[in-house]
Amino acid sequence: MTLSEIRQKYLEFYKARGHAIIPSASLVPENDPTTLFTGSGMQPMVPYLLGENHPEGTRIADSQKAFRSVDIEEVGDNRHTTFFEMLGNWSLGDYFKKEQLPWVFEFLTDGVGLDPRNLYVTAFIGDEKNDLPRDTESAEIWKDLFEKKGIEAEVALIGSEAAGYERGMKQNERIFYYDARKNWWSRAGVPENMPAGEPGGPDSEMFYDFGTPHDPKFGKECHPNCDCGRFLEIGNSVFMQYVKKPDGSFGSLPKQNVDFGGGLERIAMAVSHVPDIIAVCHQPIVAALEQMSGKKYESASPDAAAFRIVADHVKAASFLIGDGVLPSNTERGYFVRRLLRRAIRYADKLGVQNAPLSTLVEPALGQYQEEYPETYAARDMIRQEIDKEETKFRKTLRDGLREFEKTSEGGTISGSDVFLLFSTYGFPYELTFELAKERNIAVDEAAFREEMKKHQELSRTASAGVFKGGLADHSEKTTRLHTAHHLLLKALQTVLGPQVKQRGSNITSERLRMDFSYDGKMTDEQKKEAERIVNEKIAEDLPVIRSELAREDAERLGAEHEFGQKYPDRVSVYSIGPKDATPADPKFSEAFSIEFCGGPHVAHTGEIGTFRIAKEEASSAGIRRIRGVIEG
Ligand code: ALA
Repeated sequence: MTLSEIRQKYLEFYKARGHAIIPSASLVPENDPTTLFTGSGMQPMVPYLLGENHPEGTRIADSQKAFRSVDIEEVGDNRHTTFFEMLGNWSLGDYFKKEQLPWVFEFLTDGVGLDPRNLYVTAFIGDEKNDLPRDTESAEIWKDLFEKKGIEAEVALIGSEAAGYERGMKQNERIFYYDARKNWWSRAGVPENMPAGEPGGPDSEMFYDFGTPHDPKFGKECHPNCDCGRFLEIGNSVFMQYVKKPDGSFGSLPKQNVDFGGGLERIAMAVSHVPDIIAVCHQPIVAALEQMSGKKYESASPDAAAFRIVADHVKAASFLIGDGVLPSNTERGYFVRRLLRRAIRYADKLGVQNAPLSTLVEPALGQYQEEYPETYAARDMIRQEIDKEETKFRKTLRDGLREFEKTSEGGTISGSDVFLLFSTYGFPYELTFELAKERNIAVDEAAFREEMKKHQELSRTASAGVFKGGLADHSEKTTRLHTAHHLLLKALQTVLGPQVKQRGSNITSERLRMDFSYDGKMTDEQKKEAERIVNEKIAEDLPVIRSELAREDAERLGAEHEFGQKYPDRVSVYSIGPKDATPADPKFSEAFSIEFCGGPHVAHTGEIGTFRIAKEEASSAGIRRIRGVIEG
């Protein structure tokens, strides 16, 4: 079965069980300050898990593109990629464990044909410190499901991952209880790390057994959460029913929710019973890379890691660029730069010559033509960006090599020399080590690592206060700035012309930041006029109204949306004004501003205070950036 076939089967399965199917959101999260990238299907769902009504109802399913930057270093093994798709289904206060677990089981076994004897599951053992009970209900449901298939399913109390390596698994054990490190899910991880207001809950994970022998390098005994590659996690049902309270204890969310996430590519690996994500899901890129390098891809060959890194990184970078993240040195763009530079290095290692990395864009995106037509349609732009980055990086490599030669004339390289080459010339340090080895030059690797550690600690301190994207929080001040942000966009369109479009936003309790498309600098008069319009609308104390509409209706009304964003069939919009508008009669045609938006906002513009543009500057070619503040 291909990725498309599994995806389609999954969505049909949940549609037949009353779920509305929504499109994938962008890899760049909207109004979510917790992460730089969309790394799970639940991120765009947070407001609804916290209790807001979803415009599509209480049963939702999708296939969400996801990027996990933390996994960059893991890529190269048989199962990690930074880019993947997460199959999701949500119950927003609708069904719970006894419906959801049987559905997952049915989908995995009867739906895509996995042999239930190869499935193992886990559940939450409980957490006394935080007064969170053991999830015996899930264990009982699983037991029953396995037994109906004629499989004896004993329950095992494991606890920590370390205990798993010690104890291993006994005959007939199918259901394994682990602690919160493994069977608790929130965006922040374990209960202790969750900030107040964060939702989370116990989870139950499904593992596929490839039946490969255990590798004791990972621990004495094998168990479902062992990393040796025998078991692969393919799905996770989170029972989102708790919220962290300001006093650190746990309260119940207004409703009991389910958040299921299944790795599409990993399910494809299980379906084909091949424990190699690249062989199963990146075939077209691998074929092109074989041609370009003259080498053959084989799971067990020493070149496999390089193939895997290039394949994943090109796919990930192509999707990120398609969602508007261009290579740069800051925030998100840095990850795209890092992916591309690593891919170039590993393609070089494979011996690719005379073929730019961008050759791989078509094979990377070709299989997504139907699911992500807008990304595929952007492939020329994506290729150009990758070419630009490759040209820059090749120059860096040439300059760095020259410096390397100068530095190493005396036959040794110190730790701070390696660091200097890396920090000043952008020359990859692994390359310094490799060259030194080839040329028999002594290098002080330990001193370099020390230097690097100091540097990383410094930059972590510097970025701790940096805000990441969307709304920093839902505090009153942030909410006021969010409504001011809507007024500002309309004011800019009034002053500079309707072609002005929002291209990024970022709001903290201190200030708003808006990126918008416009060629040229704004004059002082234009800035004053935009500011005046915003303050005039604040003084008019206009009502701010949320409505749920069919997407086409919202588009017909001219509701603003961010470039490159895809929306579901029913959407939430916020309109501002006219004076006598009410939720029952929003009078859209007379509204000052209408935007696709999930909130939150103030109820009346008079709550905002006085708005001021603090700064207007270039952000990138054709994009301006405004910082705005509220006074009083
Ligand atoms: N949100 C859950 C996860 O990412 C399903 O594993």
